[in-house]
Amino acid sequence: MKIIQNLSVIAFIAVLTGACSSSSDQIPDQYIDPVASLYDPSLKPFYHGVASGDPLPDRIIIWTRVTPEEMNTRIAVAWEIAEDPIFSSIYKSDTLSTTAHRDYTVKVDVDGLQPDHVYYYRFNALGKTSITGRTKTAPVETKDELQFAVVSCSNWEWGYFNAYAKIADRPVLDAVVHLGDYIYEYGVGKYGDTTIGRFNLPSHEIVTLQDYRTRYSQYRTDLGARRIHQQHPFITIWDDHEVANNSYTAGAQNHQQEEGDYEARKKAARQAYYEWLPIRENRILYRSISFGPLADLFMLDERLEGRTKPVDSLSDPQYYDESRTMLGADQLQWFENQLSSSKAIWKLIGNQVIFSDIDLSQVLPSMPRNLDSWDGYPAEKKQIKEHIVNNRIRDVVFLTGDTHASWAIEVATDVANTYDPITSRGAFAIEFGAPSISAANSNERTATEEVKKSELTLLNTNPHIKYTNNRDHGYILLTLTPQSATSEWYYVETLRQEGSTEFKGETLTVQRGTTSIRKLQD
Ligand SMILES: [Fe+2]
Repeated sequence: MKIIQNLSVIAFIAVLTGACSSSSDQIPDQYIDPVASLYDPSLKPFYHGVASGDPLPDRIIIWTRVTPEEMNTRIAVAWEIAEDPIFSSIYKSDTLSTTAHRDYTVKVDVDGLQPDHVYYYRFNALGKTSITGRTKTAPVETKDELQFAVVSCSNWEWGYFNAYAKIADRPVLDAVVHLGDYIYEYGVGKYGDTTIGRFNLPSHEIVTLQDYRTRYSQYRTDLGARRIHQQHPFITIWDDHEVANNSYTAGAQNHQQEEGDYEARKKAARQAYYEWLPIRENRILYRSISFGPLADLFMLDERLEGRTKPVDSLSDPQYYDESRTMLGADQLQWFENQLSSSKAIWKLIGNQVIFSDIDLSQVLPSMPRNLDSWDGYPAEKKQIKEHIVNNRIRDVVFLTGDTHASWAIEVATDVANTYDPITSRGAFAIEFGAPSISAANSNERTATEEVKKSELTLLNTNPHIKYTNNRDHGYILLTLTPQSATSEWYYVETLRQEGSTEFKGETLTVQRGTTSIRKLQD
């Protein structure tokens, strides 16, 4: 079926363009693209490939970028979507335009689609056709199985995004859930392994809108990044490095006064994020996505929506203060309502920082708790726990990024007094933590044997932690059925060159109605 001239799409793009317009977005006519040397000429002018995201039963975002040869021109872009990869029957198509105001990115919220369907899409501009993307809408009916990849922390200088490439090789997933640190803000060599020969662009710490745009452009030239976006829909949320390290509503550890106004920096970072990621553009980023009766996914914004400044130590008198929040009142209310009203079996939480209590005192005596994680916001954490426990909300699974380590945790608080590691009594949810795609593991700073020892110490002092790995890069493959939630951790052999084999690290499962993590034999 061919449907042409979808006016709602044109209106959508016009709103986006208008929302982001300002004269400061104009690119100087003499502008030299710093990323140009990384482009694959065969992809011209679609050097950054294609992407899709935020799947709903009837609509999905499709994305591309047209790299202009002349600055500040308006470029017409046609798109089409079909049910087969050779576009023998085009389901829908249209034409729109893009300009410097959106950094020549193109985003369409394609509607009128069928639920739980695989679609193929492509763009045409300047006489050339893009690579073909594959994507999938969310289901409405119950399903025997859903499958997600769960990822976080892709850092250009630490290595090639080979784990992305391995996910790209898989049959189409229901979504890739990206939990943040999609980019890192640092200048060259400040946080990376520059012996690999991958140097950040621009070379300085990114602060302005053009800086953030350039960094996204560079990251999207990585082959793994291009391939994973081509093959699967993404659902993304930012963590701190999409703005600056350890960010919160009013500041960040890595934002100094001489770098200018923090509000302006956040605005620039936010604009570039919306331009470059296949995400629906609402004022607030936290959102829920239904995958039918089997799962609801709640994506939380734990950085820019309501996070107050972290405390520096556990002895800070403000530590337990109820005014200190990770989500803020509005988001917390929304989250509790979503959890209570969800009819889905699995309640997945797209969570940036570790929710579970973790006692670090035996491995990091100077920092017995990670105060940037939920351990730093005890009052709000307690409220969420009580909401889950008091309302008997079952089958809650936190999906967590941020730590550059893998985790499987039976979520409990006040572990010593309330949790039984044999029966799992006292646990009220499950937490699966994704390793980093490439950002540094512990053994990229400390000897591997030392890291193995500290992993064992962590397990011994935290009986609710059932698995951790601080040494390998990769991703989680999460499989949900009506009976179980199973997490498989896959790791790549190397980041130091483009392309790698992968190996499976661990497979753990939890049965519906329980909070016991068990090993699954292959
Ligand atoms: Fe990270």
